[in-house]
Parts: sequence; structure tokens; C-alpha cells
Amino acid sequence: MNPETRERLENLLSSDVYRDNLEFWERAWNMVKEPYTKLPDLEYLNTIPETLTNRSVRSVLDLGCGTGWLAVYLAKQGFHVTGLDISLHAIKLARGWAEKEDLDIHFDVGDIAELPYPDATFDAVVANSIFEHFPFEVAQVTLQKLKRILVPGGTFIGCFDKVGGGPGEYYELADQTHVYTDKARKGMLLRYYQDEDLKQILNGWKIETLRELETGTRFVVAFT
Ligand SMILES: C[S@@+](CC[C@H](N)C(=O)[O-])C[C@H]1O[C@@H](n2cnc3c(N)ncnc32)[C@H](O)[C@@H]1O
Repeated sequence: MNPETRERLENLLSSDVYRDNLEFWERAWNMVKEPYTKLPDLEYLNTIPETLTNRSVRSVLDLGCGTGWLAVYLAKQGFHVTGLDISLHAIKLARGWAEKEDLDIHFDVGDIAELPYPDATFDAVVANSIFEHFPFEVAQVTLQKLKRILVPGGTFIGCFDKVGGGPGEYYELADQTHVYTDKARKGMLLRYYQDEDLKQILNGWKIETLRELETGTRFVVAFT
């Protein structure tokens, strides 16, 4: 990373905008009393364990796991799963659920931008509906940093939702990230990642799948 990019990134990560987004998630999760145990209706869902199995994956990091539906789904299929989320409350709910199901999932509270794991810890990283909540440069650097915590040839599976616009008030940062200002979503960041953006943030990854769903959401499978 060149010094200019590093400085811009550091400024962004220590900015009010970034902090307000983290606070938005903590507030949003604090209103939730039970984990979301119902599997969402996602057309690519079945392909995730299939892809992981085909790649002989055993250990998986679920980035931004929320209350853990994907972590639990994968653990039930025999993968060794770790979940990471910024929200302590969401992680408490996820831990409680895993315990009830007698599943050995390790859940951590932490910031995706920091990735608090040693080198080559995981065979794969899954990130469902996460990166659209990051400004471009944070997403770009985080995707490059993921390579460090993956084994060589490691797998990345990500879903980049098409969200943004719609109801609510927001202003736009120079990189097209929306910063919400209305009461319900105050502080939340949303950016729409299209094919060219994804190719840019996945620079150096071998992209196996880059699929646009009917909704404009992108589903990606890539390898280091
Ligand atoms: C749209 S939710 C998706 C949750 C889950 N992956 C799913 O598919 O339902 C985004 C998640 O990212 C988490 N998150 C947002 N910013 C984060 C950050 N900087 N570090 C870790 N988690 C973050 C939020 O707490 C929230 O659980």
C-alpha cells in the first residue's frame, strides 16, 4: 500500500463516519432479542457448502456473522467455523444459539478491518451482505488483507447486496458510499458494488464466479 493510500485509509477508519456506522450496527442489534434462526431464501445458499467441499475446505471464517445463521448452517454441515462481528450483542446471541445446538463454533467480537487472526488460519472466508457496508477503500484493503489469514489457494465467497437508494435520507461520499442520516438508519454506510468495482477490489484474486442476480446483487467466488 502506498503511503498516500495508507493515510487516506487511516483517516477513514478513524473518522466519525466509520465510527457512526459501527455504532449503527450495535444499536440495530441491541433491539434484537433472539438470533435469526430462519435460513434466508438465497438462491446461492446451497452452492456455498458445495463450493467449500469441492475445495476441500475445513476451516471457515464467517465475516460479519451477525447472529450466526451462516456460521450455524456451515457448522451443521461439518465445517469448522469461526464467526466475527463488531456487535457484542449479536455475538452473544450467536454464542447462545450455537450452545443450544451443541455446535462448536468460535465467535469473536472485532472489526473486519483489523482481522485479528494469525497468518493462514482459515481455508475459506465467507462474507454475506457485508462489504456493501464499507467504503470502497476499506473494502479494497480488507479483501487484500484477507489473503494473509487464508492458506495459500484459500477461498473467498461473498455476496455484495444491491442496496442503497430506496427510502431514507443520506448523503454521498466521494467514492459513492451512502451515509444515512434518517433516524432509523443514522450512520449506516451503504455502497453499491458493480462488476468493475468488484474486479478492482478483488485485484490479484482468481475470480471463479462473478454473478449478478436479478436484484443487482453480486455473488462472488474467488481464490488466492
Ligand atoms: C447486513 S448484516 C449481515 C449479517 C450476516 N452476514 C447476514 O448475512 O445476515 C452486516 C453485519 O456486518 C456487521 N459489521 C458491520 N461493520 C462491521 C465491521 N467493521 N466489523 C465487523 N462486523 C461488522 C454488522 O454488525 C452486521 O452483523
